[in-house]
Amino acid sequence: MEYLIKQYPLETGALEIQYIEEFFGEFPRKKTAAEITNRLQDREFLILMAEARLGDDAGTVVPVAFKVVHELRAVEAEPKLRDLVGRLRDCVRFDGRKVLYSWIGGTRRDWRGQGQFRALTEESEVWALASGFHEVVVKTKNRYYDMRSTLDHLEFDVVKYEAHPKSNRESKVYLSKQLTSDVVRTHSSTRTVVLAG
Ligand SMILES: CC(C)(COP(=O)(O)OP(=O)(O)OC[C@H]1O[C@@H](n2cnc3c(N)ncnc32)[C@H](O)[C@@H]1OP(=O)(O)O)[C@@H](O)C(=O)NCCC(=O)NCCS
Repeated sequence: MEYLIKQYPLETGALEIQYIEEFFGEFPRKKTAAEITNRLQDREFLILMAEARLGDDAGTVVPVAFKVVHELRAVEAEPKLRDLVGRLRDCVRFDGRKVLYSWIGGTRRDWRGQGQFRALTEESEVWALASGFHEVVVKTKNRYYDMRSTLDHLEFDVVKYEAHPKSNRESKVYLSKQLTSDVVRTHSSTRTVVLAG
């Protein structure tokens, strides 16, 4: 299977993600286009969207999965990112290295288990390596079992666990992957990537 991936510029990408997040019932707090634009402007980022043909209408292509990754600097001004860097300091080395943060992403329910998220992740890793990033980090929660299983299959290593005071299901798990050329050599998806206007 060949995956169709679109790479978006900031403004249109932010709007597309706001739109696709409407299809993710499990997340109460969806990101707005403004939130996405504010976070990504003035930093390196990649907005990817996977598209697939509708089963009953092969001529119609719909967005089915997305992934947004961005640069995470040693010194961040935005409170959420400053907090994140503070939490990662004891397990991720920032000095003299480019660190990428895998911020948001997912696959629409009906298209899960078909390799869409692997394809997006592999494409982001190719981009990250070419852009000089050394490591990609991601944050999830104990209760996001689908995501934890997926990150396991994609060979992310747990670097930190933060217990939640009341419910362990809410505890945070931080994972990371060192970006080397070996990573790209193990990729398995075949992808066509186009730049969206
Ligand atoms: C997690 C999620 C993105 C996976 O997307 P997907 O397109 O179904 O993933 P893929 O089909 O590309 O699977 C990638 C790998 O993970 C594995 N995997 C995916 N979902 C899995 C699950 N529920 N259990 C076990 N393994 C799973 C696949 O087998 C595959 O491994 P392989 O390539 O080695 O065979 C999707 O389930 C999702 O959007 N979930 C809700 C989002 C979420 O939980 N976010 C949490 C916030 S951090």
